[in-house]
Amino acid sequence: MPASEPRTLPVTRRYADPASAAARLHRQARSVMPGGNSRTSVFMAPYPPYAAEGLGCWVVDVDGDRRLDLLNNYTSLIHGHAHPAITAAASARLARGSAFALPTSEEVELAALLVERLPAVDQVRFANSGTEAVMMAIQGARGFTGRPKIAKFEGAYHGSYDYAEVSLSSSPENWGPLAEPASVPYAHGTPPAVLADVVVLPFNHPAMAARLIERHARELAAVIVDPVPNRAGLMPASRELLESLRAVTAAHGIVLIFDEVISFRVGYHGAQGHFGVNPDLTTLAKIIGGGFPVGAVGGRAEVMAVFDPSGGTPKVPHAGTFNANPVTMAAGLAAMRLMDRAAFDRLAELGAKLRDSVAACFKDAGIPGSVTGVGSLFRLHPSDRTLVDYRSSRHEKAEAARLERIVRFLLDHGVMISTTGLGCLSTPMGDPEIEGFLDVLAAALRAERGA
Ligand SMILES: Cc1ncc(COP(=O)(O)O)c(C=O)c1O
Repeated sequence: MPASEPRTLPVTRRYADPASAAARLHRQARSVMPGGNSRTSVFMAPYPPYAAEGLGCWVVDVDGDRRLDLLNNYTSLIHGHAHPAITAAASARLARGSAFALPTSEEVELAALLVERLPAVDQVRFANSGTEAVMMAIQGARGFTGRPKIAKFEGAYHGSYDYAEVSLSSSPENWGPLAEPASVPYAHGTPPAVLADVVVLPFNHPAMAARLIERHARELAAVIVDPVPNRAGLMPASRELLESLRAVTAAHGIVLIFDEVISFRVGYHGAQGHFGVNPDLTTLAKIIGGGFPVGAVGGRAEVMAVFDPSGGTPKVPHAGTFNANPVTMAAGLAAMRLMDRAAFDRLAELGAKLRDSVAACFKDAGIPGSVTGVGSLFRLHPSDRTLVDYRSSRHEKAEAARLERIVRFLLDHGVMISTTGLGCLSTPMGDPEIEGFLDVLAAALRAERGA
């Protein structure tokens, strides 16, 4: 709970001054990058603060303001910034060469760690991002089954890749019936063939999803599901949904992919361990790179064999100049070794406390709002509807505007979460940081009530 006497709030708005270093950088950025931006998810109108440095759970911007980092590069920094053990491991590797056209011992060690921890992973291959991991998993499933289509859930994000983006942001005007969601393009110019090859499923509606999978079964290579889908609301999948997906895909020889790019944060054995359901393939990224670009696909040896080049050209060739980059592997190994069971449990406990307190904050302020998430993940919602799926968690116009004001208030008072309300914890955080955040959130909600 926030302290009853509000403390003095930090004010972190120097970036907003048109004469600030951030404003200057953005003017220059606009002339050399479209919209001054290289990553849609970090765009803020008219421009964001620019980062100068990070240490632990704090980030300092180029204008000298310091914020609690509750976004952690979109959940990827589970130990916050510049953790000494990770910095030492990456620097030591860097000093001995940063990339080779040969494998290194570090990739074998990180692969072994992932195989040991993830119940459904016998073997692993590395890539450079979660997007690449998803592309590789989908190709792998096609190669294994010889079928063209995939099924994914409405509103779920699986990276910047046209098949994975179908129905990422569908709206009431185009989303069609819940029992048979339409395949809606995200990027302009998405080929109709892509839409035709993606079956869209309603999240947390197991019977409807199973019916659609059965209808397309003979053409489906894969069903991909994020067990804790952020963009679809960060409501965990029901166990019933995951068990039903496991049963129906197994019955029809369809590859079940768990996208654990974010959800590996949920526990030592990932979301698959948490929910007790084993997929055929698992995609990973974010925390396994220790703060460096990374992606990976793991899974059953029988399916992973499609990538095996040892008997000649594999069914699914997979190359990549920086795959299993040794600096990334060294940093990832250091980060994952620090994340023992106790570290996962402590973050999950802190996360549960934070989510309870955030819900109480909304209630005390009398502002419609709620919070979803699991483990060290949370997401603020500007409504108190029951949230089940993408459709129920999609914001109305006034709700979106309320969330935008709250997020901006946080940004301008020393706290960073995503513009969509996503946040997560890192190991340098403890009760004082959480209480500091709750103070600022309570002030944001008081300001909302005043408005
Ligand atoms: C569930 C999920 N899958 C895939 C991706 C893509 O990962 P990356 O940004 O590393 O390409 C993301 C990114 O946020 C994600 O949340």
